[in-house]
Amino acid sequence: MADSGPILVTGAAGQLGAVGRTVTGLLLERGLPVRAMVRREDDRAAALRAAGAEVMVGDLLEPADVYRVVSGCRRVYFGMSVSAGYLEATVIMAAVAREVGVNALINMSQLTVSQMSIQNTTPSPQQRQHWLSEQALGWSGLPVVTIRPTVFLEGFFLRFAGPTVRDRGRIEVPFGRGKTSPVAAADVARVVAAVLADPGPHLGRVYELTGPRSQDMHGVAREYSDALNREVTYYDIPPEAWERELKREGLPEHLTRHLVTMAELHRAGRYDRLADGVERVTGRPAMSVRDFVTLHADEFGGRRS
Ligand SMILES: NC(=O)c1ccc[n+]([C@@H]2O[C@H](COP(=O)([O-])OP(=O)(O)OC[C@H]3O[C@@H](n4cnc5c(N)ncnc54)[C@H](OP(=O)(O)O)[C@@H]3O)[C@@H](O)[C@H]2O)c1
Repeated sequence: MADSGPILVTGAAGQLGAVGRTVTGLLLERGLPVRAMVRREDDRAAALRAAGAEVMVGDLLEPADVYRVVSGCRRVYFGMSVSAGYLEATVIMAAVAREVGVNALINMSQLTVSQMSIQNTTPSPQQRQHWLSEQALGWSGLPVVTIRPTVFLEGFFLRFAGPTVRDRGRIEVPFGRGKTSPVAAADVARVVAAVLADPGPHLGRVYELTGPRSQDMHGVAREYSDALNREVTYYDIPPEAWERELKREGLPEHLTRHLVTMAELHRAGRYDRLADGVERVTGRPAMSVRDFVTLHADEFGGRRS
């Protein structure tokens, strides 16, 4: 089968980690043609088009949309924001990819799936859906590459920690004494782009991705302090108070249950893990917390001179 046509990147507008948006940019930099799938026409879609991508609008939960968008593509990155329809979207993508006949499907998953089995799932509906999605893609017989990152730096460590580090010099998350090894979405995107550029050697593989160090939140806070040149401490916020705050913010139930489970698993030591997938695939080590905070210093209230 000829391997021509653009590379499809779903979820390309970008919300939290924006892996799809970064992957699009990295592939375009390599001179590869990219079809970027977005949910709606907006500034993000215009920026992708301006960067050189072919932008197509569609809903990953609508089979006809997915068929229209996948047709003509031989390599696909499949990822979308954490949401209740994730498993359905995966199965729609699998059905379409089989019909169209793709040569590589790069599936975004989660590292917690490595700890899951029929007898051992988690209360997170998102993690359960990733586990089931991986099963379904296995049954599909498609040429799949599975990407399993641990927690992204962009969520708990930037979006949630940003305002409290800025206002009080504190990271307030309910992670107890658990260790963690967060990874930057930019590193995850580098892995996905490298695989999409030359999928052959990676087909059938599972890549586990973490940052370079697993440490407790006091260790993480020290890296913030070094990056910002001021004291940042960790405050182990009571889980119930934190959950109440999430609910007050009106996040969807699916996302709230996922976040609450991630915090629970952190407290249980289940995020204490190290994997070398970033370096193995890209040849460069994963970004440290310190480098990530330095890069985003403005969002944490800036670096003291
Ligand atoms: N955050 C973490 O700590 C973490 C860790 C490991 C793995 N992951 C996995 O990474 C993935 C999320 O990646 P990400 O952060 O790069 O995603 P993201 O930036 O949050 O979202 C990507 C895009 O998906 C689009 N989307 C959502 N529903 C759609 C639909 N029905 N049809 C078409 N597009 C849709 C959104 O469009 P709009 O913006 O227009 O709504 C969004 O721009 C998930 O699979 C998650 O489980 C996350």
